[in-house]
Amino acid sequence: MSAHFLEKGIDTSHTGILYVEDLSVNFDGFQAINKLSLTIDVGELRCVIGPNGAGKTTLMDVITGKTRSAIADIDGSVYLGSTIDLMTMNEPQIAQIGVGRKFQKPTVFEQHPVWENLELAMAGDKSWHHSLIAKVDIEGRQLMEAVLALTQLESEAYRQAGLLSHGQKQRLEIGMLLMQQPKLLLLDEPVAGMTDEETMRLAELLNSLRGQCSMMVVEHDMEFVAALAGPKGKVTVLAEGSVLAEGTLDEVKRDERVIESYLGR
Ligand SMILES: Nc1ncnc2c1ncn2[C@@H]1O[C@H](COP(=O)(O)OP(=O)(O)OP(=O)(O)O)[C@@H](O)[C@H]1O
Ligand SMILES: [Mg+2]
Repeated sequence: MSAHFLEKGIDTSHTGILYVEDLSVNFDGFQAINKLSLTIDVGELRCVIGPNGAGKTTLMDVITGKTRSAIADIDGSVYLGSTIDLMTMNEPQIAQIGVGRKFQKPTVFEQHPVWENLELAMAGDKSWHHSLIAKVDIEGRQLMEAVLALTQLESEAYRQAGLLSHGQKQRLEIGMLLMQQPKLLLLDEPVAGMTDEETMRLAELLNSLRGQCSMMVVEHDMEFVAALAGPKGKVTVLAEGSVLAEGTLDEVKRDERVIESYLGR
């Protein structure tokens, strides 16, 4: 899978892939997000940490169009690249333009073999399927092979998805998102309920996507965060709906306010 399509058609020259500015979300008087600003670079893997209720999931809900003005007062800007205003779009449109979201519980087609799950996920993008119908067989197969390799599911390709382990299902679901060639992947607590070994495999998978796909990963498991951020990756700490700190994992771990509000002493 080549890197170029992951930002194709999106102007990211000034803003990175995701640009959030002064975002506020108020649920019936409760300020879940409070003037939050954040930028994610093209190809970056950004970890977002913070205490329960900090607004991490709400941030993803707004980016993906799940939370809109019908259920909350929303203010501020959310852009994909510098020109695509996500606040004017609904959930299917945002998915279609290349923002993939991984929920905590894997949602695979249990009765179908692994490869068919991937095929079905690809067909989900109708415009691509129809406009490139002649090329889909070759390109689609190449993409599927690349995704099977990335997710370390090659040996499971013909197995029924329902028979996979929890960790394998999680990787399959990420594979299904990759079949849609996302520009930005959002993952909310992807290792919850996984064994240590599965957790490290997922870290390996996400690390291998670095540079191909931009990612925002919310997680409480600090070993997993350390494996993703490495010594130089940027980590964002949210608290009470705002960015409390941003820096390398070492930097934010030393930050007094972060220790106070999240990590404890
Ligand atoms: N639809 C909603 N209506 C009312 N309040 C909401 C709604 N969605 C979220 N909230 C509130 O907004 C706050 C932020 O919640 P959110 O789920 O974003 O936190 P979080 O950082 O993801 O926490 P956790 O680490 O526990 O997953 C919480 O106090 C939550 O109760
Ligand atoms: Mg959450």
